[in-house]
Amino acid sequence: MNQTPFEQVSALRIGMVDFVSPDEIKVLLDIDAPESVALNTGALRPFPRVNGYLLIPVDEALLVGQVEWLTVERSAFPKRRGMQDFGLVDLPYPLRKLRFNPLGTLRKLVSEGGLDLHPEYAFRRGADALPSVGATVVLPTEKQLRSIVESGEQRRVKIGTSPLAGDAEVRIDPNRMFGRHLAVLGNTGSGKSCSVAGLIRWSMEEAVQAHKQNRPNARFIVLDPNGEYSRAFSGDDVVKARIFKVNPSEGEFDLKVPLWFWNSAEWSSFTQASARTQRPLLRRALREVKAGRTGVGTETNEDKKLALRRYLSSRLITIRKSARSGLFQTEETKFGFRLKAILDDLEKKCEEFSAHGIESITDAIKSALEATTHTFTDKETGKPVEYYRAFTETHINQIEEALRTALDGIGGIIHHEGPDEDVPLAFSGTDLADHIEILAEDENVIQYLDFLITRIRSFLASPQMRTIIENEDDLTLEDWLSDHIGESNAQNGCVSIIDLSLVPTEIVHVVTAVIARMTFESLQRYVKENGASLPTVLVMDEAHTFVKRYKEDIENQDAASICCQVFERIAREGRKFGLGLVLSSQRPSELSPTVLSQCNSFLLHRISNDRDQDLVQRFVPDNLRGLLRELPSLPSQNAILLGWASELPVLVKMNDLPQSQQPRSDDPDFWGVWVGQDDAGTPISREVDWQRIAADWQAGPVAENRSKEEDET
Ligand SMILES: Nc1ncnc2c1ncn2[C@@H]1O[C@H](COP(=O)(O)OP(=O)(O)OP(=O)(O)O)[C@@H](O)[C@H]1O
Ligand SMILES: [Mg+2]
Repeated sequence: MNQTPFEQVSALRIGMVDFVSPDEIKVLLDIDAPESVALNTGALRPFPRVNGYLLIPVDEALLVGQVEWLTVERSAFPKRRGMQDFGLVDLPYPLRKLRFNPLGTLRKLVSEGGLDLHPEYAFRRGADALPSVGATVVLPTEKQLRSIVESGEQRRVKIGTSPLAGDAEVRIDPNRMFGRHLAVLGNTGSGKSCSVAGLIRWSMEEAVQAHKQNRPNARFIVLDPNGEYSRAFSGDDVVKARIFKVNPSEGEFDLKVPLWFWNSAEWSSFTQASARTQRPLLRRALREVKAGRTGVGTETNEDKKLALRRYLSSRLITIRKSARSGLFQTEETKFGFRLKAILDDLEKKCEEFSAHGIESITDAIKSALEATTHTFTDKETGKPVEYYRAFTETHINQIEEALRTALDGIGGIIHHEGPDEDVPLAFSGTDLADHIEILAEDENVIQYLDFLITRIRSFLASPQMRTIIENEDDLTLEDWLSDHIGESNAQNGCVSIIDLSLVPTEIVHVVTAVIARMTFESLQRYVKENGASLPTVLVMDEAHTFVKRYKEDIENQDAASICCQVFERIAREGRKFGLGLVLSSQRPSELSPTVLSQCNSFLLHRISNDRDQDLVQRFVPDNLRGLLRELPSLPSQNAILLGWASELPVLVKMNDLPQSQQPRSDDPDFWGVWVGQDDAGTPISREVDWQRIAADWQAGPVAENRSKEEDET
């Protein structure tokens, strides 16, 4: 076809500009413009179609726009190119009109010399000038369409094709896609999980090629609440996924999130500690138990001495506090019983620390107790009742003196009772519970902490929880980090899948929060250490449960809000440390607004709910909203990509993911189960054994703990 440029334009002409204002351009279609399919563009293309692309030559460039709506208007004076009249009488005639939504400009790249019949184009967002009334409107050629959809640089990974643009390839730049957080939103079954698994897989396949068939130094951490993703990456040895779950099968690993990783906020939410009495004591207990590192690993003599020093310092601080407040001077405060508790505890330590003069402390306490103790017989029960009278200042001074002398012998008092309570140092849950109990007795607040202590103990007694949170096989922080975030050069694989599906609901939020925070903090430390970041992507499926908007309230910090806060922090600061977020959710309106507003790219699948649609409308500027009107009717596997990762919002038909690489989220097969076989004729059976389920159910954490306590008494 040897057409002159002028002929080309006239062959592609479909109408002319009929109305122009700064925010609206209307086009009147020619009567002979295609009715359903355009044949003149080099390939069959549906036209006219909402959201299809059109061009208007303005000055030297082409103004690119999308069709926002189409309509038919009755007009008294139909016009037709070449021929002015239809018949003898001017009858009203249906004319087609459309609204043209300008998106950007397509410019011809200047080539060396002569007339260029096959020019290259470059697309840019924004329109320099608006057309005038009467300007020609044309269909883009294949090449022009490609230049529009395939605009942008470093488009390394193909994620799909664009059905609106002659199936041009849609490619993304991973730096843009993952570097500034991505939200994948859409109804259930619209293809979010497939898209997420696909994005990881296609990026990795491209990277493997670019890295000469070696394993890419990539890190994806997938938090998988439904246990869907393990299938999507199984059997791939180059990318290689490590799977962490409760009750792992062969080749998978135990999910471990030891309780000594948790920071004090996570502990508070987990134990539901109240702000006034419980939280300060819990924090102190954490500090002290971490300082003592009681019962974990082998301690040197120096470690032990330090532990004793901290222990005695803490006792001295308690005694001084009571002395200052005058607590010991009355009987009502039950100061005597607290002293007795300290004595019992100290006596247990006497043997272990005999060389450090603890005996003088116990002696001082004993003599004070002896001087004040009294017994009488209760008239009603006939049993002897022991109580303590008021103590004198001398008693207290003697105890203080003895404590101070002992402390001086081992290095003096330590005012700060331990390391920061948030440092991940190993300790065992039982030690913490014991220590809180001691402190609570010391402070005479045991009645306020009973519930909290019982809660910790009952969780520790439950086998399901214990495997996740107790440190039964001496896991070190270093091991955990290389297992989960990956070794040097990702030798142990590029993807870790953390299957949360069998984590008991009571701790699933804390566990998720801890994993996300540990990932963030370790990358933060990596940057501090190395001066450069270690690019990592944290993927959170079903984000509406873990990144759920919450009420800001200092009093009530439940696990869900603690979890959301971690993601908010990652959303705000993650980029600096190379941590990108990918969130997938079916209820965008329930997500934390802070996190959503930090997402720079969106992959929008079908969204039919009004509130969710309104929400995503707000992400895009006015002139780009047209495309989003298609959201309620998108077929699955189709999505609109917009934001930082894409020059223009584009409708993408995502690459096909073969069944074996899809996340497992099969719809329940009602019919197959009803009739006992699936479509292929394979028998399906579903035996029921409620007895096993009931037994397992009733052996839940609380019931189990109760029976254990009963055994002990
Ligand atoms: N890229 C794709 N390739 C092949 N099939 C796909 C693709 N995307 C979606 N599908 C089909 O759509 C179905 C649903 O997809 P998917 O499980 O990803 O939905 P979802 O949005 O994650 O749903 P939910 O919110 O319930 O988790 C899949 O089982 C698959 O058959
Ligand atoms: Mg899903």
